[in-house]
Amino acid sequence: MSTSSAAALIRTKREGQRLSTAQWRDLAQGIAGDTWCDAQIGAFAMAVAWRGLDFHECRDFTFALRDSGRCLTWGDLPGPVLDKHSTGGVGDCVSMALVPWVAACGGYVPMISGRGLGHTGGTLDKLESLPGYDTNPAPERLRRVVRDIGCAIVGQNADLVPADRRLYAVRDVTATVDVPDLIVASILSKKLAGGAQALVLDIKTGNGAQIPDESAAMALAARMRAVAAESGIALAVALSDMDQVLGREAGNALEVRAVVDLLCGRACDPRLRDLTLALSAELLCIGGIADDRAAATVRLRRALDSGAAAERFARMVAAQGGPAAVLEHPQRCLPQAPVQRPVMATDAGFIQAIAVRELGECVVDLGGGRRVPGAPIDHAVGLAGVRGRGERVARGEPLATVHARTESDADAAAARILRAFRVGEEPALPAPLLRWLPQAQFPRAMTATVSA
Ligand code: URA
Repeated sequence: MSTSSAAALIRTKREGQRLSTAQWRDLAQGIAGDTWCDAQIGAFAMAVAWRGLDFHECRDFTFALRDSGRCLTWGDLPGPVLDKHSTGGVGDCVSMALVPWVAACGGYVPMISGRGLGHTGGTLDKLESLPGYDTNPAPERLRRVVRDIGCAIVGQNADLVPADRRLYAVRDVTATVDVPDLIVASILSKKLAGGAQALVLDIKTGNGAQIPDESAAMALAARMRAVAAESGIALAVALSDMDQVLGREAGNALEVRAVVDLLCGRACDPRLRDLTLALSAELLCIGGIADDRAAATVRLRRALDSGAAAERFARMVAAQGGPAAVLEHPQRCLPQAPVQRPVMATDAGFIQAIAVRELGECVVDLGGGRRVPGAPIDHAVGLAGVRGRGERVARGEPLATVHARTESDADAAAARILRAFRVGEEPALPAPLLRWLPQAQFPRAMTATVSA
C-alpha cells in the first residue's frame, strides 16, 4: 500500500502531474480518516481546479471516494435499484415526485439527497417542511422502508462516502464547488455507494443553473458518462432548461405542495409534470422495467391516474416520520407564511427573460435558504405562481406572489422580482424543456479532458 504524504500528493497535483490509483486511494482515506486537515483539502481542491484530472484520475478518484466508507447493497430486492440526480435549479422539486412515482412502477429508489446550495433549493430541506420527516434514519430503518415501500429520500450519513462529505464542506468555502472533475467524482461516488444500478442525470442549463454554460454542461455530461461506463451503472443524461423557474413555486413548503398536487392529479404546472414524467420514463427504460419510453410513459400515467404514485409518496412520508394526512390535508401539514403579497406587472406584453438566479437568491434572502452551512431555514417562505418565459401578461397582473415572514421582507422581495422580469411587446418563446444527450453526441475529445 502506498503511503504518500498529503503535502506530496498536493504538490504532485499542483504541478500538473498524474496521481496513481494507489495515491487516489491514500488521498480519499486520508480525507475520510481525518489525517488531512481542512487546509490541505482546500489546497488539493484548488490544485484540481487549476490542473484538471485526466479520465483515469477522475475514475480512480470516484472509486476511491466511493470506497472511503460503507457501500449499501440491495441484492435481495425484487426490482432494480434506480436513482436520479439533478445539478440543481430553482423550483426543481422533481425528485420528490419521481421517487415514489418510479417506485409505484416497480423500481426501488433509495435516494441520497442534499440540502440547498447557493441559490438552488435542496430536496432534504423541502421534505423537512413536513413536520417530523426524518432525513437521517438508522440504516436498518432505511433498509426496511425501501424494502416495504420501494423508496426513501434521506441524507448522506457519516458512513456513506465520508471523504466526499468532508471534501464537499471545504469546497463550499474555497470556491471549488463548480469544478467539473470534483462534481463528477462527488456525485457518482455517492450514487455508486448507494447501490444504484441505473441513474438519470438531469443537468440544468440557463441562467438559473449551477452550471449555466452549455458547453461546460456538455463536458460534464461526457465525463460523467465515461466514468459511469467503467463503474457498471447505466446512465442517461439530459439537459433541461433553467431560463425560467421549473414549475410555479420556489420555496420549501410551497414546492412540497406542488408535488402533492402533481401526484394527486390536481392542477399542476405542465413543465414540472412533463419533466418529471420524462425523467421517470427514461429511468424505467434504462433500469430494465420498460422496453421503451412509450411503454414506460403508459405505465407511469397508469400509476398516476390510479393514485398509486400518490399513495407511495404518502407512505414514504409517514414511514420517515412525517404527517400521515399529507395528501388529504397538505395545507394543514405544511407551514404557511404570514404575509402573501402578489407582485404586479407594471407593463403589458410578453415575458422576454427572467433572471432566475436572482429569484433563487430572493428565496434565500426571504429565509428559505442558507448563507452559512447548518443555519436554520424558514420552510414557509418563497415564491408562488411564478410566471414563465413567453407568457403574455396584462398590466397589473401578478408576476409572482411573495410568501414572506414580514412586510418588510415582502417589500424587498417584490422590488427584486420586478427587476428580475423583462416584459416586452415581441412574442418570446421558452427554451426547450429537455434534451436527451445520446452517447454519439459527445466528440471523443470531450471524454479526454474537462475544463470549467
Ligand atoms: N455537486 C457536487 O459536487 N456534489 C454533489 O453531491 C452535488 C452537486
